[in-house]
Amino acid sequence: MRNVVLSLLGTTLDRAPDGVRWERWRPTVSLFQHEDFLIDRLELIVNGPHRELADQVASDIRMVSPESEVRIHSIPWQDAWDFEEVYGSLMDFCQSYAFNRDEEQYLAHLTTGTHVAQICLFLLTESRHFPGRLIQSSPPQRHQSIAGRYSIIDLDLSRYDSIAARFHKQSMDGLAFLKNGIATRNKEFNHLVEEIEKVAIHSHAPILILGPTGSGKTQLAKRIYALKRSRNQISGEFIAINCATLRGDTAMATLFGHTKNAFTGAASKRDGLLISANGGMVFLDEIGELGLDEQATLLQAVEEKRFRPLGSDMEVTSDFQVIAGTNRDLQHCVRAGTFRADLLARINLWTYRLPGLRERPEDIEPNILFECQRFEESHGRKIQFSQEAHKAYLAFATSPGASWDGNFRDLTASITRMATLAGPHRISPEIVQNEISRLRKSWLPTSHDHDHDPLVGLISGADLAQFDLFDQMQLRETVRVCQSCESISDAGRQLFQVSRLQKSSPNDANRLSKFLKRFNLDWKSIQPAPMGKSRG
Ligand SMILES: Nc1ncnc2c1ncn2[C@@H]1O[C@H](COP(=O)(O)OP(=O)(O)OP(=O)(O)O)[C@@H](O)[C@H]1O
Ligand SMILES: [Mg+2]
Repeated sequence: MRNVVLSLLGTTLDRAPDGVRWERWRPTVSLFQHEDFLIDRLELIVNGPHRELADQVASDIRMVSPESEVRIHSIPWQDAWDFEEVYGSLMDFCQSYAFNRDEEQYLAHLTTGTHVAQICLFLLTESRHFPGRLIQSSPPQRHQSIAGRYSIIDLDLSRYDSIAARFHKQSMDGLAFLKNGIATRNKEFNHLVEEIEKVAIHSHAPILILGPTGSGKTQLAKRIYALKRSRNQISGEFIAINCATLRGDTAMATLFGHTKNAFTGAASKRDGLLISANGGMVFLDEIGELGLDEQATLLQAVEEKRFRPLGSDMEVTSDFQVIAGTNRDLQHCVRAGTFRADLLARINLWTYRLPGLRERPEDIEPNILFECQRFEESHGRKIQFSQEAHKAYLAFATSPGASWDGNFRDLTASITRMATLAGPHRISPEIVQNEISRLRKSWLPTSHDHDHDPLVGLISGADLAQFDLFDQMQLRETVRVCQSCESISDAGRQLFQVSRLQKSSPNDANRLSKFLKRFNLDWKSIQPAPMGKSRG
């Protein structure tokens, strides 16, 4: 293989007055003064006005290495410190160069030229536009020959075992970090986390995390942020916003900020959360609960990175990465008219669904261990199951009867209860049996549904039974929508979206009132009590 070096003429370092030419270390010439390294050809790139120096260097090279060929290429840079210009012309050079990799191996000399030119050579080599390695020359140290030293750098990292091993370790650390240090055994979950790790490191695009309550969405969002931060991918803050609590003017002001006197009570100007998130990450928790107006404004902020604080006619800018979490089926919400299709499209790029605990039975054991360790750390005492107790608990926890409705939240609470009751002793089979009954009770379907039935307290079971199941179900969903709306017109808009577009329903609010009246209900009576209203 012939060695071919690409070098930029060093207008300072390669120059030396006649009398001391052979006493000075000159990087480009020095490359030809090593007996153990023969260069067959030099492609010397010269910036226009230095042609004379280039000829001098070429003739000196012929003196020390007569068998080497030197080709001089003039590239007239206006400004050798202009990245765009230098990169562009070096790229053109590489693209028009007839590389013959079967017979020649190429080296880009990094020691001469402006720093900008050196960076460009590095980038072109790394991107394989220049299909070779880098060579670096350095001046002689005391008692060394004038040739100095050279070293060859191969950017193909796979050749550097120790670096490759470090990268691998770093990536494994990232995975373990995202998994909270829990040795999960579920194959799909591990794949999911592997992909999330890659996306977290390489992408700035929105991430949407779906999954049932307690499956770890909030925790994962925080860990993605922490991982990005540890890899210097992000510098700003992590701002968590619970969308379920955002309604009306105050919500807009909380998000987007406001001017002084923007509304009654706005005594001074305030930056909103989205401004604080500049350069950082916004976690939009429970995004499915966001009202339609807020969705519209948020969409603009996410898309254009600009928005107008309340009461201001000046736009402000803030650039942040979005992570959203929800346990709702957002596609379904779009069809129901409660979620904007364009907002979903915007955040639905990297979408991950975290499985519930029931879907990962093989992970229950490592998670029990993790919860015990967590308790030990916070309480400073050791937690242990008796062998029999552990067996019984694990058998129950992984059985189809264990629904783990609250997922990790249930598991954390369960271990905490048992550890507390055991005191300084081991967790006994009796404690486990009691805990199993308690969990079973908490997952009873009736009590669970009851919590979420919006008709409880509005209409008695006997009255409801007067209606067909068909009507009951319609009423239940209608009340659910109404309770999430600010006004009857807002509810009307959501419920009769399709008719509105077809202009077949002149008055939504009227239509809604009539429907409620059939059940002896009206708008006021179905609104949640004040305590329940201040959600979150
Ligand atoms: N992989 C995990 N292993 C063990 N515990 C976890 C794991 N992920 C989360 N947890 C714990 O479970 C609890 C619930 O997690 P988190 O709040 O992230 O759930 P969520 O999906 O955001 O729930 P919600 O939808 O109700 O907001 C937290 O206490 C968290 O520390
Ligand atoms: Mg959450």
